[in-house]
Amino acid sequence: MTTRDPNRVLIFDTTLRDGEQSPGCSMTPPEKLRVARALADLGVDVIEAGFPAASKGDWESVQAIAREIQGPIVCGLARCNREDIEKAHGAVRDAARHRIHVFLATSSIHRQYKLNMAKEEIVRAAVEGVRIARDLVEDVEFSPEDASRTELEFLAQVVEAVIEAGATTINVPDTVGYATPQEYGEIFAYLRRHVRGADRVVFSAHCHDDLGMAVANSLTAAHNGVRQIECTINGIGERAGNASLEEIVMALKTREQFYGLRTGIQTTKLYPTSRLVSTITGMPIPRNKAVIGENAFAHESGIHQHGVLKHASTYEIMQPKDVGLSRNSLVLGKHSGRAALRDRIQALGFDLDEAELNRVFAEFKALADKKKELFDGDVEALVLRTADAEGGPWAIDKLWTSATSGADASAVVRLTHSDGRSVEQGATGDGPIDACFKAIEIATGIAVKLSDFEVRSVSEGEDAQGEALVYVEHNQRTYRGSSLSTNIIESSARAFLEVINRIETHRQSGRAPGERLTQTRGPVPATV
Ligand code: KIV
Ligand code: ZN
Repeated sequence: MTTRDPNRVLIFDTTLRDGEQSPGCSMTPPEKLRVARALADLGVDVIEAGFPAASKGDWESVQAIAREIQGPIVCGLARCNREDIEKAHGAVRDAARHRIHVFLATSSIHRQYKLNMAKEEIVRAAVEGVRIARDLVEDVEFSPEDASRTELEFLAQVVEAVIEAGATTINVPDTVGYATPQEYGEIFAYLRRHVRGADRVVFSAHCHDDLGMAVANSLTAAHNGVRQIECTINGIGERAGNASLEEIVMALKTREQFYGLRTGIQTTKLYPTSRLVSTITGMPIPRNKAVIGENAFAHESGIHQHGVLKHASTYEIMQPKDVGLSRNSLVLGKHSGRAALRDRIQALGFDLDEAELNRVFAEFKALADKKKELFDGDVEALVLRTADAEGGPWAIDKLWTSATSGADASAVVRLTHSDGRSVEQGATGDGPIDACFKAIEIATGIAVKLSDFEVRSVSEGEDAQGEALVYVEHNQRTYRGSSLSTNIIESSARAFLEVINRIETHRQSGRAPGERLTQTRGPVPATV
């Protein structure tokens, strides 16, 4: 038997489950697999790969992750009912190490308005759910949803009952981001003091950021005996998001003397993983975001610059290289070879296999023909964009636009569909991008409401590549797409088409992106 290091905090990453629930952050199955690989390289202990009962597509992508990923425990979420739990088990069972995570709300607000269940019914259902899961797997996590707004004595009663039923991890979610750090820490201190069997389980923190306290709450929980923290890359998640993995990990590392705790995370992989998730979800990282924001290590004021040049520790509590940030001003161009490109890619923190490197190199050469100098931002964008970024049934075959000041612009698109169709469509609009979007809507027969559109440069110079980000509303859901090109009309049209592809793919897979399933009274709802 191996004894657990009492000062080791397990990192439970829920980017693929709670993170994916944030509007506009849905990922395709290949994208989820790509993120799961990056999480395994990063060294997370648990990957919550999804909610298998949510849809056939979710089930399949959890299974694909369970089958491929080595190292971390692969976990599937389930409501407290047999059907969900069996689906979760079916999806994760092929992973060498797997877990079922069952949840049921316990707070009076949820009991009364959502579940219409009395306290005794909650205890019974929670125990039943954990027993069903424990009959299938050894490793069972239980979450009393909205725990931080649950009466403490009742929370302790539920937790004691599920430990008795076989739960091995007890997660205490601050579901609506309401708790303060002190209150949240005291919940764990109380449970560890009052619950029989508390010493047999791992306590876990799961915090949302509605009041901006998710990371502080998680760290205070760790200070109060919690040894698993649930978090997401870049803090993506429901509403204001979940606790950010990179902030928690770097706080524990940088302030190790204070917390006396450690994680198994390879911190030099934080920046590349963060960029990957940002690119895939289309959720930009604010420049001033702690740890991985563009300005996190930038010193503008003369006094600070002078200090850092003399000794970095004057104004830097972490080194950029600790989080995998290793930018330099070395410029690549069309005469740069494969080896130089590979070195740059490695210095930026990415490990590509030969096939991926070949693909990036081919795109690098094509880009170098259009653009004199290639900077780190260009290389990073090529690495992150390669493979399945714009996969889907529709593809752009040709695009023509014309615009004259003072008159409507026009666009003609020729699209192909994976079912063999080829459609050519023209439209006019207020500028060439508007005309392209209209032509694509008519050609595909999918009408959307554009809610946000931005183009930003990913590197330097007048010939920099422009990344287009498109957000739309369709059937009361948010969808997004992104694309990259030195031609911003082309990147905008491709980003728009990615949106259309996501809508069509989700129509087929049966679940809209970001849809949250929740337990209601009685048996499983007919449609999930
Ligand atoms: O926030 C929450 O309560 C959750 C649970 C399902 C763990 O995400
Ligand atoms: Zn959550």
